[in-house]
Amino acid sequence: MKTVLTADQLHAGVDRLGQEINQFYNGQPLIIVGVLTGSIVLLADLIRRLIMPLRVGLVQASSYRGAAIDPGQLTINFDLLPDVKGRHVLLIDDIFDTGKTLIALVDELRKHNPASVRCAVLLRKQGRQAVMMEPEYVGFEIPNAFVVGYGLDYQDAYRNLPYLAALEEHEIGQKVH
Ligand code: IMP
Ligand code: MG
Repeated sequence: MKTVLTADQLHAGVDRLGQEINQFYNGQPLIIVGVLTGSIVLLADLIRRLIMPLRVGLVQASSYRGAAIDPGQLTINFDLLPDVKGRHVLLIDDIFDTGKTLIALVDELRKHNPASVRCAVLLRKQGRQAVMMEPEYVGFEIPNAFVVGYGLDYQDAYRNLPYLAALEEHEIGQKVH
């Protein structure tokens, strides 16, 4: 694996995201909604930089990949979502790749009549987008490689790495453990 972003670089990116979000919402109450499971590390780091009255919700979105790196069918679970009616919602995900996950989540969330929905992601993969939507907040633009660490997984492994690393060609398609 090759390191793409060090822990220090990631923290500086999260600082920047926090500042932008604080500035935009300007003290208005916010519900931050993390997309399980990839957003948990970002969520934990980001909420400690936010200064508005804040609630935290979670949604689950998974496109089963197995040993592949291409997404399959998307499943969404809103059981852990608090009541968002009339409230400002910020969806948080680890990475914006094709964008299909976030656009589906935004569409679903809108049905619950929030005051607004915006999106923040730690990473945006360059040249991969397949939807007419962009996240309002992006921590880092990265080249098109499969990355792990800081919440992101390959076959559910590597989420605990404190830095971000790209898998090398020969590591893709192998069983991890
Ligand atoms: P999208 O729907 O194509 O934007 O894919 C977004 C989801 O796929 C993210 O929430 C991640 O869980 C996963 N994903 C996409 N690219 C990567 C990657 O490079 N490493 C790990 N997970 C990824
Ligand atoms: Mg994910």
